[in-house]
Amino acid sequence: MNVLLIGPPGSGKGTQGDRLSDRLGLVHISSGDLLRAEVEAGTAIGRKVEHLMHAGELVPDLIIISLMLRPAIEAAEGPGYLLDGFPRSVEQAEAVRYAAGQVGIAPAAVIYLDVARDELVRRILARAEVEGRADDNPETIRARLQVFDEATLPLVAHYRERGLLHEINADQDADAVTAEILKALGVA
Ligand code: AP5
Repeated sequence: MNVLLIGPPGSGKGTQGDRLSDRLGLVHISSGDLLRAEVEAGTAIGRKVEHLMHAGELVPDLIIISLMLRPAIEAAEGPGYLLDGFPRSVEQAEAVRYAAGQVGIAPAAVIYLDVARDELVRRILARAEVEGRADDNPETIRARLQVFDEATLPLVAHYRERGLLHEINADQDADAVTAEILKALGVA
């Protein structure tokens, strides 16, 4: 099974991605983690995207598509992929649709994690105290939420129209969110 996980910053994509990949044996591929690894390794891609990530802006489509596509294709040839944080715009979704059509790896379901805005900010600021992620500060959080509203939220309607969307109330404890996702996927 191939699954997309979308949601605003702090909605639990990484948390649920880990849980679902454990439970379903899918390969969890996080766009943010791949980008942070490039930054940490000081690669040419990392140097190009670092300031954009610190500002909470999207990195160029070509960069993120080039990073995500190969592991997604490899995962789809095996147990299936669970893409976390990608696609993040209708343009990226169209690129995925084209590529997936070419190699026969279309997603079977799209999970949208819906959480109230004040809870998102609370979670991210709590994480900032523990992890110190460079983009977890009030100014960048505001920018990330605005980018989500403008670029990513239209994906909800996009995938709903295609009959792929499962809207999940992710404003509850992590176990309850996992249970709701598994039920939506028909594997509970
Ligand atoms: P990315 O790493 O994807 O960040 P994000 O979307 O802002 O999401 P977060 O990692 O902040 O949150 P999450 O939804 O994974 O929640 P988590 O499980 O961590 O992207 C970072 C940047 O990379 C972007 O800003 C952009 O610049 C770039 N980028 C990435 N993808 C891109 C793309 N496709 N195109 C262009 N640019 C791209 O949970 C958050 C916290 O809450 C944790 O502490 C967790 O323990 C806690 N928590 C989780 N679930 C619950 C719960 N149910 N109850 C209480 N607490 C919870």
